[in-house]
Amino acid sequence: MNNYGPFSLDGRVALVTGASSGIGKRLAQVAAAAGAKVALVARRTERLEELRVEITALGGVAIAIGADVTDNEALSAAFDAAERALGTVDCFVANAGIGVGGEPSEVRSEDWKRAMETNLDAVFFSCQEAARRMQVAGKPGAIITIASVAGLIPQFEFSPYSIAKAAVIQTTRVFAAELGPRGIRVNCIAPGWIKTDMSAWFLDAPEGAAYVAGLPLGRAGGPEDLDGAFLLLASDAGRFMTGVTLPVDGGQLLRP
Ligand code: NAI
Repeated sequence: MNNYGPFSLDGRVALVTGASSGIGKRLAQVAAAAGAKVALVARRTERLEELRVEITALGGVAIAIGADVTDNEALSAAFDAAERALGTVDCFVANAGIGVGGEPSEVRSEDWKRAMETNLDAVFFSCQEAARRMQVAGKPGAIITIASVAGLIPQFEFSPYSIAKAAVIQTTRVFAAELGPRGIRVNCIAPGWIKTDMSAWFLDAPEGAAYVAGLPLGRAGGPEDLDGAFLLLASDAGRFMTGVTLPVDGGQLLRP
């Protein structure tokens, strides 16, 4: 039992991609603290194993599964492993992502493909896989995608990333429209600047620090600043929400 009330994930099985660092790691920790059994999926298995040990030491249940999300077979095998160990995944978090820069007039085709493979194709097919398994098991569930404010406002210096994240938002909505009648809610979190390995190059630089200091809430976020949005969308507290994209950005969208 835990004290999460309507935000509790007791009895749920969560699978989080990109759980080896940053936001994915944090969301996996929060899911476990709120009562879910958690399948940790990423490529860096030694990091996942450390996290598994940490969650277990705190009384949670977790397993570590190495997989590249761009490999549909590996992803399907990851769901199989999670299902065998923990039961059907009924809380899926499509978090794994990579930053890919380039202004539209200069983007090289290999960078475009790389951005789309991880940030869009893998999100689409992993949501499809998660939804299919929930339906086979006859279980309701929650799917949460992680987009970005870069999917809501054009970030031309990171155009492949920005375009892929916009498509993640639409992916969320089309799955939500299809899956709602089957008891599966699909929602999206669009983070602003969150301090992780992905964003350190900008936030640690003087111009990045100055930029976030000028935002309405005056700072960059940490992965823990997404806890509330995640628990709302994952738990019964968000039971009447589907197809929503929730910006968690310290007010960045007020001043793009
Ligand atoms: P991060 O670099 O710390 O984490 C990304 C995770 O995805 C890592 O665990 C990485 O190993 C995993 N990953 C990448 N490609 C993979 C693949 N092919 N197969 C399996 N795992 C893979 O970065 P962060 O910030 O935690 O990013 C998480 C998500 O949040 C991403 O989708 C990112 O686009 C999004 N985001 C991050 C923001 C930020 O400011 N940090 C802002 C908005 C969105």
